[in-house]
Amino acid sequence: MSIRCDQTAPWPLLAAHFSDRGRHLDLRQAFAKDTQRFAHFSQSAPYLFADLSKNLWERDTEALLLDLARACALEQQRDAMLAGAPINSTENRAVLHTLLRRPAGLVWPGDGPQTAQRLADVHRTLDAMLAYAERVRSMQAITDVVNIGIGGSDLGPQMAVLALEEFSLPGKRMHFVSNVDGHELHRVLKGLRPESSLFLVASKTFTTAETMTNARSALAWFAAQGGRDVARHFVALTSNTEAAGAWGISTSFGFWDWVGGRYSLWSAIGLPLAIAIGAQGFRELLAGAHAMDGHFRTAPLAQNLPVRLGLLDVWYRNFQGFGSRCIAPYHAALRRYPAYLQQLEMESNGKRVGRAGGRPLAYATAPVLWGEPGTNGQHAFFQMLHQGSDVLPLEIVAVRQATHPLPGHHDLLLANALAQAQALMQGQASDDGQRHFPGNRPSSFLLLESLTPASLGALIALQEHRVFVSGSLWGINSFDQWGVELGKQLAKDLGPRLASGDLAGLDGSTAGLLGRLRTDGPT
Ligand code: F6P
Repeated sequence: MSIRCDQTAPWPLLAAHFSDRGRHLDLRQAFAKDTQRFAHFSQSAPYLFADLSKNLWERDTEALLLDLARACALEQQRDAMLAGAPINSTENRAVLHTLLRRPAGLVWPGDGPQTAQRLADVHRTLDAMLAYAERVRSMQAITDVVNIGIGGSDLGPQMAVLALEEFSLPGKRMHFVSNVDGHELHRVLKGLRPESSLFLVASKTFTTAETMTNARSALAWFAAQGGRDVARHFVALTSNTEAAGAWGISTSFGFWDWVGGRYSLWSAIGLPLAIAIGAQGFRELLAGAHAMDGHFRTAPLAQNLPVRLGLLDVWYRNFQGFGSRCIAPYHAALRRYPAYLQQLEMESNGKRVGRAGGRPLAYATAPVLWGEPGTNGQHAFFQMLHQGSDVLPLEIVAVRQATHPLPGHHDLLLANALAQAQALMQGQASDDGQRHFPGNRPSSFLLLESLTPASLGALIALQEHRVFVSGSLWGINSFDQWGVELGKQLAKDLGPRLASGDLAGLDGSTAGLLGRLRTDGPT
């Protein structure tokens, strides 16, 4: 499908709506005028509640955005993804991370011809992986599990292991090594003994330079420390089980080319999480995500939370002209959630060409995502949200129930989350410019009842689908990542030059820096 969103009828209507009314919208007046604004712009979805009412839009804005979604055939695009059509057009692959969390044997109308077979494969692998996770949990000799992987083979499991620490088995330390920077692996290895360590080499392709380098060094360390039985201590999580075998790893859990790296938490890449929270916990994560898939698949567009969020994203990026979104989880366990979302959204939708023919687009796509947990961010960059020269939409995630016993903390935390959203909107008049808060600054508020495997699964699936919605409207392929290739190739060329000192053909800056970086160069 190659509909250009800027060539549909609603696009110029949205542009006109922005010039006439959108840019003058005052949230304080909007609430005063419309007593139902909160009710209208809030939305329940599986395991969470969202308040989108403190955003710079009106009912008319959303109606036009829904027209845009229809004009861009959003529902058909969604159904094509869920049915397993090869919508990752540059790689001619289906995009079926939703299948990884579908209950065994469940049929959806429109399922493609291979779905039943694929779903059976998914459950066969899932059962094997979860049985293995339970075995590892019962092995008292294994005290340290080291996941070696990067990007989607690191961020998802790491974020989720931290988020669900409360549910984790005591006595197993989980480590994540991603960076090729040897300091990272070295720091972890220093605290390990080979006989009590399990290394999970996580790489969809099993070719990623960082992961292969770290895995080789871990193996060399294992041998040097007198480690025995590599088969017991090294496991591969990959869609390239052949390469893992050739590399010398006999135990591997596979997944498929129709699972994108940044969408792979639900596959064998989730093994560290399954070891931490157990088979039952992992199945609950999948069930939470599946519940959100059902909502995305069947809720009418106007009551469909991923759709509403994705449309808001398009409105902010293309009409309001906002270039970033600040992510503030008000829960310390969600500290890697902003980093996880950065890969999810910016690697998926950070593209300047359309799906059809790879031609440059005439409009902006993904915003910059950034953030830190609240309340820490309040004492760092929130100054800029309140009084900076740019409008930076904020997205808060809060959790109603705490699981710690410390009195007073959680109410204070939640009060802060509320207060920031309120202050951003209300502002504060003052004759003293330094103390003047302009207000009318937007925020969204996502609320979980409690942070559990199921609610985390639903939250992540919500974000995946929201990225799909904006990417579909923009007409980009959200499922490839060619932009990461050039740097990888150049690093391959520069690595040997660091050793040889060959500067031939390099630009002046790269040659100058390389000369200085060489161990025998001037400092
Ligand atoms: O270089 C980008 C990327 O391909 C990501 O999309 C992916 O998540 C990451 O590298 C790791 O890839 P792999 O799992 O194949 O090692």
